[in-house]
Amino acid sequence: MPQPFPDTPYLKGYYQPFGAEMQAEDLVVEGTIPEGLAGTFYRNGPDPQFPPHADDRYHVFDGDGMIYAIRLANGKASMRNRYVRTRKFELERAAGRRLFGVFGNPRFNDPSVSPMDYNTANTHIWPHGDALYALMEGCPPTALDPDTLETLGYETFANTVTGPFTAHPKTDPANGALHAFGCGAKGPGSTAVRYNIIDAAGKPTHTAWLDQPYASMMHDFALTDSHVIFPCLPVVISMERAMQGKQAPAWESNRASHFGIMAKGGDASDLRWIETDPTFMFHIANSFDDGGDVVVDVAGSKRAPLMPDVDGNLPDHQDTRFTVKRWRIGANGAFREEQIDGLDIQFPRIDDRLQGKRYSRVFANGTARPTAGRLDGFDSVAAINVDSGTRDAFSFGDGAYCGEPVFVPGGPGEAEGWLLTLVWNSASNESFLAITDARNIAAGPVAKVHMPARVPGGFHCHWRNAA
Ligand SMILES: [Fe+2]
Repeated sequence: MPQPFPDTPYLKGYYQPFGAEMQAEDLVVEGTIPEGLAGTFYRNGPDPQFPPHADDRYHVFDGDGMIYAIRLANGKASMRNRYVRTRKFELERAAGRRLFGVFGNPRFNDPSVSPMDYNTANTHIWPHGDALYALMEGCPPTALDPDTLETLGYETFANTVTGPFTAHPKTDPANGALHAFGCGAKGPGSTAVRYNIIDAAGKPTHTAWLDQPYASMMHDFALTDSHVIFPCLPVVISMERAMQGKQAPAWESNRASHFGIMAKGGDASDLRWIETDPTFMFHIANSFDDGGDVVVDVAGSKRAPLMPDVDGNLPDHQDTRFTVKRWRIGANGAFREEQIDGLDIQFPRIDDRLQGKRYSRVFANGTARPTAGRLDGFDSVAAINVDSGTRDAFSFGDGAYCGEPVFVPGGPGEAEGWLLTLVWNSASNESFLAITDARNIAAGPVAKVHMPARVPGGFHCHWRNAA
């Protein structure tokens, strides 16, 4: 019989496990779903099936992947949510208890399981051609049926991706090709990075093997029209730590940050590493070529949140607030950082049609509250203009928790369309999908699509057009 979950902040409130799979038609809509908005909003996030081993420590990055699909068409909405049926999920469901260590820590794995089967599939959800992938950076993509969310199994792209694959690939707007990497691609804690290009039809067209300066937990990377940039930042994976029963990824403050710059579609022969003082981001908003320089706009901080240092101490929120920062990597190897906006944000997104190109708006969920940490949630959605530094924002009020916003085009111009975000109202314990005019966010949502039950906190989202 499943045991109660342990008493940790990431299993309470916004992150309290939900565990149920639902399907609901004709959801209650406040306001009007815009005409022409037809497709599916997907969200991935952690919803742990079972509590971890009594001596192991749960981490919010570790829960089993639960996909929400909210379908909009003809002014109506429906939803379903399904667990990703990974091998880990199925083995644990059959056993009626957790069999894997947190982060797959072998010290806490049941002897019956293979460490290779640690796949939470909980981080991102990415449509590619006719396919839909649940992504987590330690494994190949898990393919799902885009309509039913049925799990179809690993996608290895003709055996070119048999190990880690980033949760943050980039779709090249020029040709629909997917650029991606795998970090720790020769085993956990290895410095090997695999760079892959998969064409719009799902065929692998390029694989290159690279080495980063140390075994960083590379979560995101940048793609411009002509470059690809691999950030090696001081969150380091150590299997030695894991075997001591500690968390494998930790902040190692004595490390420098390094940026590997390479031609788009290139290989190790033209990879150049640039070193700078420690700095951090989990997520890149956008990146573009500017003369000989490369500009990388990020949700940046001085130090990684949610990651202990080598002594196990967690950082103060003030040192880990993410704000929109511009990193400029000069042709001469110089690195410059500039803050564009001071809002405390979580997940930055853009109008994806401008991926890799000069652009002007970062969309993000953020908070103006003087928060003590991420557990207090992000009450707002915002568009930050990276050219003018102005901000267009809307707060859903005290007690609101906004997820990652996703932009859906509704016209040809940048940000001409809608911004979609899932919101949990902690006071009423209700969740809704808010639809806002992306060029007039301050006006508030034009529609709220009410979910049949609370949707717990999650990670990344994507949109897929009905056509
Ligand atoms: Fe992420």
